[in-house]
Amino acid sequence: MKMWSGRFTKETDELVEDFHSSISFDSRLYKQDIRGSIAHARMLGEQGIISKEESRLIIEGLREIEREIEEGKTEFSVDAEDIHMNIEKILTEKIGEVGKKLHTARSRNDQVALDMRMYLKEEIKVIMGLLADLQQAIVDKAEKHLDVIMPGYTHLQKAQPVLFSHHLLAYFEMFQRDFERLLDCRKRTDVMPLGSGALAGTTFPIDRERVKEELGFRVISRNSMDAVSDRDFVLEFLFCASMIMMHLSRFCEEIILWSTNEFGFVEVDDAYGTGSSIMPQKKNPDVAELVRGKTGRVYGSLMALLTVMKSLPLAYNKDMQEDKENLFDALDTVKGCLQVFIPMLDTLKIFPEKMHREAQRGFANATDVADYLAEKGIPFREAHEITGRLVLYCIERGITLGDLSLEEFKKFSGAFEEDIHQRLSIESCVMRRDVPGATGPRQVSRALTESKEIIRLNRQHLV
Ligand code: ARG
Repeated sequence: MKMWSGRFTKETDELVEDFHSSISFDSRLYKQDIRGSIAHARMLGEQGIISKEESRLIIEGLREIEREIEEGKTEFSVDAEDIHMNIEKILTEKIGEVGKKLHTARSRNDQVALDMRMYLKEEIKVIMGLLADLQQAIVDKAEKHLDVIMPGYTHLQKAQPVLFSHHLLAYFEMFQRDFERLLDCRKRTDVMPLGSGALAGTTFPIDRERVKEELGFRVISRNSMDAVSDRDFVLEFLFCASMIMMHLSRFCEEIILWSTNEFGFVEVDDAYGTGSSIMPQKKNPDVAELVRGKTGRVYGSLMALLTVMKSLPLAYNKDMQEDKENLFDALDTVKGCLQVFIPMLDTLKIFPEKMHREAQRGFANATDVADYLAEKGIPFREAHEITGRLVLYCIERGITLGDLSLEEFKKFSGAFEEDIHQRLSIESCVMRRDVPGATGPRQVSRALTESKEIIRLNRQHLV
């Protein structure tokens, strides 16, 4: 018999039963559901809404149910619909009629909002921890290869030489913003909705602050109708997750590109690559490709839930049950991707000579020639023009700027002197970019030190 069968004269259609049941996926909320129910039952007892003895029996029953679920003894039933009613049903089977008092002054609408917030709060912390681990892996790699020079690109064309460590630390910044976004998202998730009832609150003299304290929330929700129909916190998280995936996908794309025979900058460790069933020479960067590909699923979850929530009238609507699979899938995907990406990065082999050689090609030092002329007093636009002509001259002869004699340089501008050759080395190009945030070794060393401190502060949010 259904818990809400009183008003009905007919059984639910069998197809509908399966259709609206969420137990197959929301059973993963059992821990939060039980913890929330224990806090609720304790408060009901303290407030004299149920007796102390009833409260004690309910709490004991709930604890036992938790143990049994953990031991894998529990079989949930589809006709009890969702995790909330399944647990209540088991409770009543276990402790009898008194179990039916648990739902006093509560609705599944505020209950599910509570469970989702508790669950997401914990998961956000796990992901923040993974982000901090990833940042550590980035810092370790950057530190190990601090002075390696590689070509920096714009439009995927060689632009200027940069330190490989500087390139890596660019990703550190992206993941730092992701970390801060999650911190902010956690703040808005950390709101206790229980006591909102179905939508209008409750007639019972409950103590919401007491429940908030026991469950470790920051504040209680301020409007019961909003509290039961708000899924902004899930959407916000899905956006944060999408952003993390977008950043990971860019990193993966570079690893894939750098692993090609054409680039040859890096090699993915055997443990993170796979072979081909036909081409014996192949080692494919599958892990990086799959992370790149899984980005689409997470974007999909965000778009799906945004669309579910669009135009929904207040307050709770069953549409909102669709929040769960989207959230759970995105959580599993982001965690899974971070967990495999971190060791892949850790074990990634770097080929500094190849990076260095490529940085010397493609006129990556041309800006430095223009800067040199500008330092000598030639207006930058003109210096740019002169250097452009020099580059063309070299391209026509199949040589580099470094191959030109001082006499040849002088044909383009009288401002060139002996020191031009030393300015053409890629070491000089990197070294001279010494403003805050630039690729110069002094700046990158400083950035590394700061990054380590940032990780330390990030970890403080995880205790
Ligand atoms: N399983 C439901 C959900 O996930 C719980 C809330 C149901 N409330 C209701 N009035 N049908 O949204």
